[in-house]
Amino acid sequence: MLRYGMVGGDLQSFIGGVHRTALRMDPGVELVSGCFSRNAEKNLACGDMYGVSHDRLFTDWREMLKAEAAREDKIDFVAICTPNHLHYEVCREFLLAGINVVCEKPLCFEIAEAEELDRIARERDLVFGVLYTYVGYNMVKVMREMIARGDIGKIVAVHGRYAQNWLLDELSSDSNSNENVWRTKPEFSGISNAIGDIGTHLEYIIHYVTGLNIKRLCATVDCYGKKLDYNNSILVEYDNGVHGCYWVSQVAAGQINGLKFGIYGTEGSLEWEQHYPDYAVYTKRGQAPQTICRGAGYLNVNANANIRIPTGHPEGFYCAFANIYRNIVRTIEKKKKGQTPNANDLDFPTSEAGIEGVKFIHAVIESGKKDSQWVYMD
Ligand SMILES: NC(=O)c1ccc[n+]([C@@H]2O[C@H](COP(=O)([O-])OP(=O)(O)OC[C@H]3O[C@@H](n4cnc5c(N)ncnc54)[C@H](O)[C@@H]3O)[C@@H](O)[C@H]2O)c1
Repeated sequence: MLRYGMVGGDLQSFIGGVHRTALRMDPGVELVSGCFSRNAEKNLACGDMYGVSHDRLFTDWREMLKAEAAREDKIDFVAICTPNHLHYEVCREFLLAGINVVCEKPLCFEIAEAEELDRIARERDLVFGVLYTYVGYNMVKVMREMIARGDIGKIVAVHGRYAQNWLLDELSSDSNSNENVWRTKPEFSGISNAIGDIGTHLEYIIHYVTGLNIKRLCATVDCYGKKLDYNNSILVEYDNGVHGCYWVSQVAAGQINGLKFGIYGTEGSLEWEQHYPDYAVYTKRGQAPQTICRGAGYLNVNANANIRIPTGHPEGFYCAFANIYRNIVRTIEKKKKGQTPNANDLDFPTSEAGIEGVKFIHAVIESGKKDSQWVYMD
């Protein structure tokens, strides 16, 4: 049984409950410690709900770390679910104390910070997961395998978008940022709102599925007189010279959580949308588009081994999250036992993905400020 603790993620938070639910979907992990909130009442309510003993509940994450690091039965990993501004410091301190880390995206504010975290984890041989949720979907893994085995030929173009509508009301408000929304405030969010919050998911999922790395990009960044970005159009060039076009928006009426992308190759294409995650559209060159379904035998992919419930019973966000966590947990377990994790165990986003995400944020914002000039990722 592995033991874990959480920083952030109280009962009112968005993502804390998702981490806990996902970690309960597979056996072998127990929540034993937490600093879910700085507010004592909220912290206690969350701890009690999940049966965390009171002597392992803290309103200061540094106290939690100190206490955990001194225990014989200390946590095997910490899940960091706070707003972005705390990620770097909390990650660094837990890593320095020799504790494996799972952190929310975006990993941190600065590229140098992300690289430092990656270095510390490597030097100490620690597991470092970064929660790019959407690559946990089974069909995303299917598409990755299909592209790798050549089902769509050589990639010639990419199109992706992550569009939401939840900040549209802000555009007609005079205030510079909604007091209740930390994502629109630089002190909590960093130099970006939309790109950091959802654009990094798009950047990573396309890299995951195709293996393509962005060499350079140019962007328009729309802030509408506010402090941070709400709408971004980005042209990217990958290291093999192929181009892609991304749109990232939080002011798109009608779009709820519209993560959608298509990969177009010399022999066909694959398209996927988060609202219908069990399906993808596969078009062979010259043929009618086919809707392919999670778990179907005709797919003939290793990813079919990953499915949790039979075809036709929808899997969703929690399953995607749990798939990522299952691999992280297996990796930590095996390392603890002195065994070597296999390629399937290691199929989860790490600090390397975290670094690329932070680079992407900086490149987009810089290009926007420089009248959409091309900016290199390295
Ligand atoms: N992977 C995904 O799909 C996904 C989805 C949503 C959010 N996120 C990320 O998760 C993180 C949190 O987002 P959210 O929407 O859950 O935010 P939220 O505002 O709903 O929750 C933030 C939590 O952090 C706690 N917190 C703040 N300061 C703290 C401190 N000093 N010590 C302990 N706890 C503290 C708050 O009490 C709260 O429980 C962000 O980095 C966000 O980008 C990721």
